[in-house]
Amino acid sequence: MSYQRSFVMVKPGIFRRKIVGEIISRMEKKRLDILAMKMIKISPKLAQHHYHEHVDKSFFKNLLSYICSGEVLVMVVGGENAITQIRSLCGATKVEDAAAGSIRGDYAVSTTENVIHASDSPESAMREIDLFFRKEEIFAYNMDISQ
Ligand code: TYD
Ligand code: MG
Repeated sequence: MSYQRSFVMVKPGIFRRKIVGEIISRMEKKRLDILAMKMIKISPKLAQHHYHEHVDKSFFKNLLSYICSGEVLVMVVGGENAITQIRSLCGATKVEDAAAGSIRGDYAVSTTENVIHASDSPESAMREIDLFFRKEEIFAYNMDISQ
């Protein structure tokens, strides 16, 4: 087991649907640590950086226009094996594959509008956290508790 930090984004439209609390609550129930959070609107440039691995995909244009369409909540979330734990809370990418009981299984409207993003590896997590947060915006209160 290792303590990891993941980058999590609650995608556009979720504040209006009033299910942000529900999503945060699912992470807190798993004892994950919310180490940073802010509400922002993503610029097309930032969205391109974030989703750079998908630039050549057929869904890229739709993905970009959706992700830039409104308010999002970005977070740094920590915990033992946080990256896998959070991906498992999220559920599968494709709406038809997302199991009931997962965040996407319960709330995704379509594969594009699938509620939440979470880093898929330690390397992506580091890159994505750096893209959205300055070092001083990230807390480490979890470290203080154990000392
Ligand atoms: P991807 O990184 O494959 O999935 P995940 O978010 O689970 O890491 O894709 C990024 C996003 O692109 C995905 O959350 C939704 C969108 N997307 C589509 O719109 N259509 C698709 O066929 C795929 C694979 C993804
Ligand atoms: Mg991905």
